[in-house]
Amino acid sequence: MKITVVGAGAVGASCAEYIAIKNFASEVVLLDIKEGFAEGKAMDLMQTATLNGFDTKITGVTNDYSATAGSHICVITSGIPRKPGMTREELIGINAGIVQNVAAALIEQSPETILVVVSNPMDTMTYLAHKVTGLPKNRIIGMGGTLDSARFKYRLAEALGAPSSDIDGMVIGGHSDTGMIPLTRLATRSSVPVSAFLSSERLDQVREATKVGGATLTKLLGTSAWYAPGAAVSSLVQSIACDQKKMMPCSTLLSGEYGLDDICIGVPVILGRNGIEEIVELELDDNERAHLAESAEGVRKTNDLLA
Ligand code: 2OP
Repeated sequence: MKITVVGAGAVGASCAEYIAIKNFASEVVLLDIKEGFAEGKAMDLMQTATLNGFDTKITGVTNDYSATAGSHICVITSGIPRKPGMTREELIGINAGIVQNVAAALIEQSPETILVVVSNPMDTMTYLAHKVTGLPKNRIIGMGGTLDSARFKYRLAEALGAPSSDIDGMVIGGHSDTGMIPLTRLATRSSVPVSAFLSSERLDQVREATKVGGATLTKLLGTSAWYAPGAAVSSLVQSIACDQKKMMPCSTLLSGEYGLDDICIGVPVILGRNGIEEIVELELDDNERAHLAESAEGVRKTNDLLA
């Protein structure tokens, strides 16, 4: 199983590291436009192999797409990250051009690949990848909801004073500070709804902290986060590579599901060997449905900037 990660910045390198540490891929190709950068990151990571106990071969290349040929899965992390105070949407001008070129170059070398889009604004970049490549909808996946759900579970564990392993929960909607919809109604601690333990005021705080999860880190770090994004990508990639059929919220092209059409937005999907094998339609309540419609409006406004 060969996996390519484009962009050897912090997110791309973390993706490659977590994929390698989980030891399910034979090869990871890390590609970057900056001369020698991916080669350096790959060599540094390979020198952790005996320490961390993995056999995945990581190769770094400078802009040489021929090295990515025959990849089963390609992850696009390229583009600029946000700086403190910036929204993900503000990155569209620069990142759209980059994602467009990267997606086309990857498909040329690996026509059968599954694309995972991480670059921001992610839902719009996923939509753009569809427009550029024309791939079937199961083969383009936007990574946002998996990360946002991890951040939601972190906030729930914190509020409950519970171990993370007790917590389950999901965030759907757009991957933006205003578009995320943490589904507190469905979140549980060891199968018990979290509303049995937390007041509605506390749940509101959890929801708000989740939605600005990326912005909070950007402010602290001076650039956007990488460990949780990298880990989220690797778990999604593993579900595809190992045909695990895990259910995760991902940005996917909708054609009528949830009453939405011609838009990529986060909803739960089953991830297996064929990429998105099923879109799971949850029974949302009126409030959640209204939030999803609102979130979709926000994503469409950003999509309109592509024209
Ligand atoms: C984040 O939320 C990278 O968008 C990503 O941290």
